Amino acid sequence: MKRILNLFKSQKTPLTVSLKPGDSSFDVPKSTTLLQAAINNDIKIPYHCTVGTCGNCRCKLVDGEIRPIMDFSYTLSKAELDDGYILACQSFLKTDITLELEVDENQPSQPLESYTGVIKSTHMLTHDIMSVSVELDRPIQFSAGQFADIGLEGFSRHRSYSFACAPEDTGQKTVDFHVRKVPGGSYTEWLFEQDRKNETFELHGPSGSFWLRSADAPILAIAGGSGMAPLKSLLDDALNKGVNRPVSYIFGARSQQDLYCLDEMHALAEKWPNNFKFIPVLSEEPADSNWTGKRGFVTDYIDDNVLGFPVSESHAYLCGPPPMIDAVLLKLDTASVSLDNIHYDKFLDSRQLEN
Ligand code: FES
Repeated sequence: MKRILNLFKSQKTPLTVSLKPGDSSFDVPKSTTLLQAAINNDIKIPYHCTVGTCGNCRCKLVDGEIRPIMDFSYTLSKAELDDGYILACQSFLKTDITLELEVDENQPSQPLESYTGVIKSTHMLTHDIMSVSVELDRPIQFSAGQFADIGLEGFSRHRSYSFACAPEDTGQKTVDFHVRKVPGGSYTEWLFEQDRKNETFELHGPSGSFWLRSADAPILAIAGGSGMAPLKSLLDDALNKGVNRPVSYIFGARSQQDLYCLDEMHALAEKWPNNFKFIPVLSEEPADSNWTGKRGFVTDYIDDNVLGFPVSESHAYLCGPPPMIDAVLLKLDTASVSLDNIHYDKFLDSRQLEN
């Protein structure tokens, strides 16, 4: 009889998710992913791709068992897996579970909506990165560090781009993006091949879980390639809001021709109310060039003496290609930075690849 009851219990459906902190909970019907159930219950959980590639829906499993749809190690680091992180969009429940969800007063809460827009102006930041200024049909509200999906007529897939400007309190119709030209990619080749002023597009947003958490800790910002945009937005916004924390910002590029926004970053450093170090690092600059700055990889400079504060006490914000993020995550793990204090926006293939 007891076995029958246990069997009945093991087949209990739906199963329950208890959320920490707090004492709220919600049910997850059979054959529904954890993410879908959370969305159905109006739980504030970030997500984007829903197919296990972006990592936006990562959350911490503190009790119970889930059944993963895919191998999380394609997206999450070993340290994240060891710490109990899972991908909500790729999880079914095996038992009742307890989940730790981040709660932060700065957490984005703007609704995801659709807009139409028109390209107002463009200018080249480097040989392959363009700044695109657009005007929307009505004001959009977003949080610094978030991104939007942009769809052009004639292209089946949307591409995601981070806002490169600071948000305004009441929303704004004009926003900027940085677009990198993808070799052989029809979407960006279309954009780069001639002046696209007045072309129209669709925008869906905002999305993303990359925002500046409220804290007093020093900020370690690290970007590579077109990862400048979300960090620029985030730091410009922090300056506007009077954030007064030490910042060290390491920006990795291949060579001098890949550097951009240097004047803006130096101006930001001058206005910043606390210590602000901006550290460009070049990985492929010819040895005999006139470059007198740092050479190597961004990970070479994650060091107390270079940053001007203990790495272990910093809160890290990382944007760029997956290999860079993965290498930085390893280095930060070695430096004993808590995973709870590391936030990243991986510019994954699904967001960057072209048809
Ligand atoms: S929404 Fe789950 S990994 Fe992207």
